[in-house]
Amino acid sequence: MTDKLFSPITIGPHQLKNRIVMPAMHLGMCDDGRVGQAERRFYSERARANVSLIMAGLCNTFADTSATITGVLELSSDKHIDGMATLHQDIATVGALSAVQLSPIAGYNNPAWKPDESHLTMLIESIGIAARRAQIAGFHYVELMLSGGSLLSHLLSPHHNPGTLPNFSGSFENRLRGPLNAMRAIQRHAPDMPIIIRMHGHEYLPGGYGLADAARIAARLADEGAVAINVTVAGHRTKVPQITRQRSAESFGFLGRNIKDAVGIPVFYGSRIRNYADAVAVMRASGADCITVGRALIADPLFAQKIEREFRKHQNTPPLQDDNEIINCIGCCQCLDQAFAQKPAHCTVNPAIKLGIQSGFTQTQYGIAGNLNAIPNGAANRLRVVVAGSGPAGLHAALDYVQKGASVTLVEKEKALGGKWRRISQLSSHDITHGALTGTIAAVQNAPIEIMKNTELTPRLVATLSPDILVLATGAAPRRIDLKGIETHPCVFHVSELVDTDLWPEFKHAVIIGGNAAGVTMALHLATPGFATTEAIGYLHRFGSIEWAEEALSFKPAKSITILKRRGFFGKGMGRATRWTAVQEMDLFGVNTIDKVQYEEVTPEGLWIRQGKQSERRFIKADLLILSTGFQPILDAAEFEGLVPKIVVKGDAHRIGNITDAINGVYTSL
Ligand SMILES: Cc1cc2nc3c(=O)[nH]c(=O)nc-3n(C[C@H](O)[C@H](O)[C@H](O)COP(=O)(O)O)c2cc1C
Ligand code: SF4
Repeated sequence: MTDKLFSPITIGPHQLKNRIVMPAMHLGMCDDGRVGQAERRFYSERARANVSLIMAGLCNTFADTSATITGVLELSSDKHIDGMATLHQDIATVGALSAVQLSPIAGYNNPAWKPDESHLTMLIESIGIAARRAQIAGFHYVELMLSGGSLLSHLLSPHHNPGTLPNFSGSFENRLRGPLNAMRAIQRHAPDMPIIIRMHGHEYLPGGYGLADAARIAARLADEGAVAINVTVAGHRTKVPQITRQRSAESFGFLGRNIKDAVGIPVFYGSRIRNYADAVAVMRASGADCITVGRALIADPLFAQKIEREFRKHQNTPPLQDDNEIINCIGCCQCLDQAFAQKPAHCTVNPAIKLGIQSGFTQTQYGIAGNLNAIPNGAANRLRVVVAGSGPAGLHAALDYVQKGASVTLVEKEKALGGKWRRISQLSSHDITHGALTGTIAAVQNAPIEIMKNTELTPRLVATLSPDILVLATGAAPRRIDLKGIETHPCVFHVSELVDTDLWPEFKHAVIIGGNAAGVTMALHLATPGFATTEAIGYLHRFGSIEWAEEALSFKPAKSITILKRRGFFGKGMGRATRWTAVQEMDLFGVNTIDKVQYEEVTPEGLWIRQGKQSERRFIKADLLILSTGFQPILDAAEFEGLVPKIVVKGDAHRIGNITDAINGVYTSL
């Protein structure tokens, strides 16, 4: 079965060299439809690194000034053909096949928007005309977007389109008319252009289409001449989180399998694939002919190459869980948050995406292992750089300087690299960040960087190493607040003390002061143990009874966790998509949230607060008090002044922020 992943397959008139497909991901990088260097680099890097089919897009088919999405690729006019032809060539000349995903952006992510039927007919026709332009530009396939927030996905949905348009709403046949007409428009304007369909495997919306109708839709579109069906989970409007960390890659594979069973053409399926083991598990679960790998390829352009290496290594043995050279996508959804905020994509763990836009940076720092080794060690006149601290900012500063040709020494006072990143990755809600850390450490270890662990940065050491530049990425220390009576409480920790020391104090009533990202993360870390796991609930449902599953679902451990906030919203500092699920989880796991709090006094048993508009006085019991009151930079630049020509301060030592700020901040200002 695993052999399949790296074997060729014929889809329509073309042969894919393996089964790894990059799905369309709107990058927001285009300016007025012009394909820029950043976008070209993004696609070509991935095409060069073993992806067999690259889906560019989404690509707009109809010029519409009222559209709510910006920075999209365009084929809404003939003037876009040349730019798109360049993009196709970038992909094709390095050995991959190219597709472009088509949709008008009119009404994007706005299911309430319904054009009248004549306007709709024009929009559908525009898809055919754009397919013709894609054909002239050289693309191997077009993909019809019936997913995400596209107009056609809204038309297809019984939830969104119960009936206002006489010919396009209501019944199954009517709702299918939009997609069918779009296919026919493509076939008319671009005969022989193979069409791939992208659709949801289920809508997970009340009254939305489910497994049976998804299979019917796919079968009809296959009968109409589609060459493959590309199945994604559900759209933007479902309340079931799909691309955040809470679920495994293969868990919704059955949605792919449902379509595979219904059609005789190849099926693609993917979502949440982060490593080789995921890729294999998803292929097995879904029965798909090809897997789609989205964010894992944003995070690490060499993903497909690396998993092939992993495959060759383990051909006769079970795959490893942790392919530690991959910079794993951490599922933070910053990339998607950016897209929804109408900004160019950036990635927490791969700053090259953002840099491609801002500084014309020419290569991703992860794609350079070979080049790095080509830098002559010990060459004269090389800039000497010492980086102190190996958290996210330090690791990336070391990578960036070495890539620029400097001779780099990385100094870390602990025995392992990673700093706070390593410790945070041990939290239950953040274990997903571990793979990105190990991948980044592997990149540093593979580069010609001298690494000094267990080493304190002292003026003497700096004088000995005598660098041209000293980068201080020494992180941050807990910031405590002065609360009346706090010294009387027997069990008070700063959130970082719990993380740093892996302490696990027993408690009945924990209170967290501070509802920022760290506070919410700690609340979930404390709250979730003791609840039945999702696996146990499903297991009981399947092997026991619905009643036992429901009983397990309603079980609550006898502990309380309360999180307090003075102002603002809970989870400040988290990205939108992550916060959305974290807030949902706090509710599910019974975390009490209290905002608009004024702190009065701590006692040995808890704390007095005032709350709300009435400033009502309340006592909150607490046998464990956790301060999530922020951090302050650890910085002692003064002791190094005069010893080096230049001192650069990075990460939390410069400005307190999250991991995205720390990593991306390194490159934007070096
Ligand atoms: C930044 C971003 C933009 C996306 N834009 C599109 C899009 O234009 N069309 C589409 O069909 N899916 C889009 N998606 C969804 C992806 O194709 C993919 O289904 C999703 O990211 C889940 O797969 P993954 O876990 O492998 O990333 C987008 C995803 C991301 C992260
Ligand atoms: S921004 Fe986050 S979710 Fe998106 S690709 Fe990067 S690590 Fe993955």
